[in-house]
Amino acid sequence: MCGIVGVLGKHEAAPLLVEALKRLEYRGYDSAGIATVNDGKLDRRRAIGKLVNLSDLLVHNPLAGKSGIGHTRWATHGAPSVKNAHPHQAGDVTVVHNGIIENFMELRAELNNNKIKCETDTDTEVVALLAKYYLSQGLSPAESVKKTISRLSGAFALAFLFDGEDDLMLVARRGSPLAIGHGDGEVYIGSDAIAMAHLTSKITYLDEGDFAQLSRKNIQIEDRNGTIVNREEKNIDVSSIAIDKAGYKHFMAKEIAEQPLTLAKTIKNYLDEDAEQIRLPKNDIKLANIDCLTMVACGTAFYAALTAKYWFEKIARIKVEVDVASEFRYREPPVTKETTAIFVSQSGETADTLAALRYMSSQNAKIISVVNVPESSIARESDLVLPLYVGPEIGVASTKAFTAQLTVLALLALKIAKTKNVITEAQYCIYLEELKVIPELINQTLSIESNIQKIAAELVSSQDVIFLGRGAMYPLAMEGALKLKEISYIHAEGYPSGELKHGPIALIDKNVPVVVIAPMDSLFDKSVSNMQEVMARSGKILLISCLKGLDKASQGTWATIVMPTIPEFIAPIIYAVPMQLLAYHTALAKGTDADQPRNLAKSVTVE
Ligand code: F6R
Repeated sequence: MCGIVGVLGKHEAAPLLVEALKRLEYRGYDSAGIATVNDGKLDRRRAIGKLVNLSDLLVHNPLAGKSGIGHTRWATHGAPSVKNAHPHQAGDVTVVHNGIIENFMELRAELNNNKIKCETDTDTEVVALLAKYYLSQGLSPAESVKKTISRLSGAFALAFLFDGEDDLMLVARRGSPLAIGHGDGEVYIGSDAIAMAHLTSKITYLDEGDFAQLSRKNIQIEDRNGTIVNREEKNIDVSSIAIDKAGYKHFMAKEIAEQPLTLAKTIKNYLDEDAEQIRLPKNDIKLANIDCLTMVACGTAFYAALTAKYWFEKIARIKVEVDVASEFRYREPPVTKETTAIFVSQSGETADTLAALRYMSSQNAKIISVVNVPESSIARESDLVLPLYVGPEIGVASTKAFTAQLTVLALLALKIAKTKNVITEAQYCIYLEELKVIPELINQTLSIESNIQKIAAELVSSQDVIFLGRGAMYPLAMEGALKLKEISYIHAEGYPSGELKHGPIALIDKNVPVVVIAPMDSLFDKSVSNMQEVMARSGKILLISCLKGLDKASQGTWATIVMPTIPEFIAPIIYAVPMQLLAYHTALAKGTDADQPRNLAKSVTVE
């Protein structure tokens, strides 16, 4: 999604802004731009495509000035083009925007009626034009911006600069995140702390509805009611948000490889000193009273929730409803007094998930969130936040966050089961010991990477790939398909193995690889029967199982991936790794950009 940065500094702003934008590249974008005020004069440069195009433009056509704003645009309204790229400028105002102005058509019509013409296809331009209009009515920059944002509906994080104002930046947030960074006689803004990590570790996160006036020496924040407020300044550990590839070709490869470490950290943070009991952050949710759960998420996080349903139902004996946020939020489902809702989100900013959370909050449900960004909107609006502890995930395709989401949800299911007394102490201990071996089993699984690379070299010529799984492997089949399609652009679908014969089996021929995820669990024989049905129709099978499983069932398959022997409880977490590696190596073989696949954004802050 779009990224915003800004600086009121002591040095030339353009290089700082470009570096800050680089740090936001992971969010996904298709054009970029910066604007500065130099000796009181506004000027801007914009380019389509990667940031390198903007940097090249700046080499040939530099932009001076110590005050500036910058933007990476992920196109929503209007194609990626220089004309539509931010910053948008109207007279003495320039603005960058993340989010969507939903009433921009009405505002555009109103401006047109006043003979003010729009020149771009974007929703953002009306913001600049309105601010310009209010300035022309004699309002101050702050009054103009306040008046402008009072006219907007939708979601936004906005940053404004003004002609003639070298020491003024105005910012506002509603629905999209925005943070202020504090320097020595300098001030910065960014969509997240990562954008400013090269400049400062002192960060203030704006709250929903905040408006702020920034100068080098003073920051004044007003809440949604116009009351001047103090927002906490946090010291963010800059090393924890260092974003380098550590020698890997892609962030995705690094993030896959670091899972033994990240998951060891996740697990450690949820165990007491003796590692005998599961410890949750302090909260007032009565776990013993939970007898039904609503889980809501998007994309990969949704598949994590869908997997967790198996644990909550089987181990904690709780009824679970799982839905994608973009559907859930508009259904207005009835909520009973005891409802507890779990929202799963790596970024903690996904617009639909946040809207679903707000709906459940308004219905007085207890809110638990499983997030990777503890300062995110979703975390801040939850009764209980369960962090992932995996550090920033930069690759657009979620990997280490997914396995951590699964691990945290498995720990929660176990904790609830214990609190509700629905499992024996002995069984609880067995499950806990199984969770502790996750890092080691992932380590073992990573050693099969070269085999997966060879399979990917053949898979890359396929047009369609089908993934099959049963039980808790069914959501993983969908996750495997999602990973493959999003980074290699090969069409892929995940199905429950038993469902294939109800339609999709018509797709099977010798050219369609079918990935069968079949650990040696209670459903193994059933999965193998479904696999046989595919083989009987010349299907090309890639079977993923342990040695014992492959011994039993690999005859006649096209390829196999050998997994370690894994307890059934934690199998979805470990079997996620070959899904990730398969997608990654297929993307490498195809030559696509695994870290920044086309059309995708990391943090989806629009609906
Ligand atoms: C896929 C992927 C997306 C996200 C989805 C939700 O690899 O990363 O499907 O899982 O956009 O994002 P979060 O978890 O930030 O809410």
